[in-house]
Amino acid sequence: MSGALIEPVKLNILLDEGMAAVERAMIDVTDSDVQILREASGHILGAGGKRIRPRLLLLSYLALGGSELDYVANPAAAVELMHTASVVHDDINDHGLLRRGRPSVNALWGRTFALLTGDFLFTAVYELMAPYHDLNVDLAKAATGLVEGETLQASAVKNKTFTREAYMRIIALKTAALFRAASTIGAKLAGAKQSEISALSDFGFNLGLAFQIVDDILDLVEDESKLGKASGVDVSQGRGVAVALNDANGNGKAPVMDPLDEIRRKMMAGDAIAKAREQARCLVETAVASLAVLDDSSAKSALIGLARQVIERDS
Ligand code: IPE
Ligand code: IPE
Ligand code: MG
Ligand code: MG
Repeated sequence: MSGALIEPVKLNILLDEGMAAVERAMIDVTDSDVQILREASGHILGAGGKRIRPRLLLLSYLALGGSELDYVANPAAAVELMHTASVVHDDINDHGLLRRGRPSVNALWGRTFALLTGDFLFTAVYELMAPYHDLNVDLAKAATGLVEGETLQASAVKNKTFTREAYMRIIALKTAALFRAASTIGAKLAGAKQSEISALSDFGFNLGLAFQIVDDILDLVEDESKLGKASGVDVSQGRGVAVALNDANGNGKAPVMDPLDEIRRKMMAGDAIAKAREQARCLVETAVASLAVLDDSSAKSALIGLARQVIERDS
């Protein structure tokens, strides 16, 4: 059945079935004989989360005419496992004690086992992706980007060079690269033409940029209980969209940095949050515009809905 012919109700059923297969694949592949790895993985995976990346992969596949969701569940699970590994490691680096509404792996098992659980989730990706040949390259590039982005972020914080330019480069690597891999892999699995694959790649990338900007805004304006993770950490750790916008010179070279409390105060008092939101909104509209080359379908509409939800979300 072509993606264009799927009725909206049928699409939701297909998507629910696909996401259930993704959950099963993640649990199966992390069923280690080593109790700590099995339990810590089960803890973080069982906490849920938005699951936006596997959903993006499945919808990209359906929007380009794919229909065998069983065939794409494993790559979608691989993308979500890579993301989950990254947040387990991120909580070690950021000293995050709350994740997905639960104590983080780091908080319950300590740094050593959190590090190893993150490694384990990363290695599970190899197993799931083994049959998918060249698609491994797309995911490997995203994994490299993630590590490069987190490294550039830590070094910009350390050297106090967290400029707007540095910020955009960091979020492109640490977040948008994996979104792009998800949509690209979905399109490639559907056997799409090169122009369609490029459209989906651009869609995922711009959506990922917007997603991280919104995450940084929420970090400033929402509390932990709503987010299910620590909030207020970005500014206190000298990074995030607020710190980037505080680069008064805007020349990307020598930011004039206020004390962190002052940054937070200015951000809350002025129009910086509105500007950051506007940037995220523009990125989402750019993402949506790149879908113009696709035939209309319920899956395409769902992709557009998913993109708009990114700027409307408040948790
Ligand atoms: C958190 O991602 C890390 C970022 C890239 C901002 P999500 O907000 O998708 O986290 P979960 O999966 O829903 O917990
Ligand atoms: C995204 O950055 C982290 C990764 C891509 C691993 P954040 O540090 O903002 O993520 P959260 O807010 O802790 O989820
Ligand atoms: Mg963090
Ligand atoms: Mg954050």
